Amino acid sequence: MLELEEKRLTIAADGVHAWRHKDLLDTDTLSREDIDLVMSQADAMTEIRTRPVGKVATLRGITVVTLFYEQSTRTRASFEVAAKAMGADVVNLSATGSSVEKGESLIDTVRTLEAIGADVVVMRHGKSGAPYLAARYTKSSIINGGDGRHAHPTQALLDLYTMRQHFGDLAGRRVVIVGDVMHSRVARSNIYTLLASGADVTLCGPATLVPRTLESGGEGPRCRVSTNLDEAIEGADVVMALRIQKERQEGGLIPSLRDYIAGYQVNARRLARAKPGALVMHPGPKNEGVELAPDVADGVGSVIEEQVTNGVAVRMAVLYLIATARRP
Ligand code: CP
Repeated sequence: MLELEEKRLTIAADGVHAWRHKDLLDTDTLSREDIDLVMSQADAMTEIRTRPVGKVATLRGITVVTLFYEQSTRTRASFEVAAKAMGADVVNLSATGSSVEKGESLIDTVRTLEAIGADVVVMRHGKSGAPYLAARYTKSSIINGGDGRHAHPTQALLDLYTMRQHFGDLAGRRVVIVGDVMHSRVARSNIYTLLASGADVTLCGPATLVPRTLESGGEGPRCRVSTNLDEAIEGADVVMALRIQKERQEGGLIPSLRDYIAGYQVNARRLARAKPGALVMHPGPKNEGVELAPDVADGVGSVIEEQVTNGVAVRMAVLYLIATARRP
């Protein structure tokens, strides 16, 4: 039975395109073929997850460490569930309670984990670029679980997977990303996967939170910037709201939450301007009643729970591809 599982998964990975990345630090290093490979692997993982047991032993003997310097619910829990569903051994570490508190450097930490036998380290860090530094100093594979305001590749991949489940090919689909784009690692990683998949992207929010440079800085005409949500949402296939971080308000980048809600909350009136059947997405965690009106967050178009569920299958796929590429 296990051999059959191995064979089926290997066939999926042994198509015309092979995964060659030691690490997954952002989506901008992924080709269209890499992205398609993750998507097809995630399909296989979704099928596994629907079985009564929902587990295989494909990664038996692989050790996955989750190393989180910042808080997380979804990313950390879904990586742990994904790794265990593939038969890997999982060690969970957070900065609190580890030798990081005694001043141990990031480089020493990842080298220590490598010496312990970590094959894959899933890492979240408050500083942009920290996983890149870690990857340079360890033979363990590093998966970026979110670094500062820079990147969150598995979030973008699970978002893409969720959209593809509903629409199939995304060519020509219109995706509006609304909120604090400037500080959002989720938005940054999503822009690459969406443009690579042929979607048109509109980034929307107050001018203080949506940099014009993303429109003119080489992303091409399929990535636009708007400060008017009522206009931007017109005919959209997907509306993805981003979390407003409270510190942005304290930093004077938005006048008040009330003003933000008035201009940029996705509510039923605004959503009615999108295409019928438009998807409503949010990476979580949400500020209840801020980015999304409650009836929209829980409404028929909302796929927020699907995003979370798909996170397990997509992370199983990423772990599988990275761990398999390590095998001699
Ligand atoms: N979307 C996301 O990264 O959520 P967590 O912070 O809960 O991991």
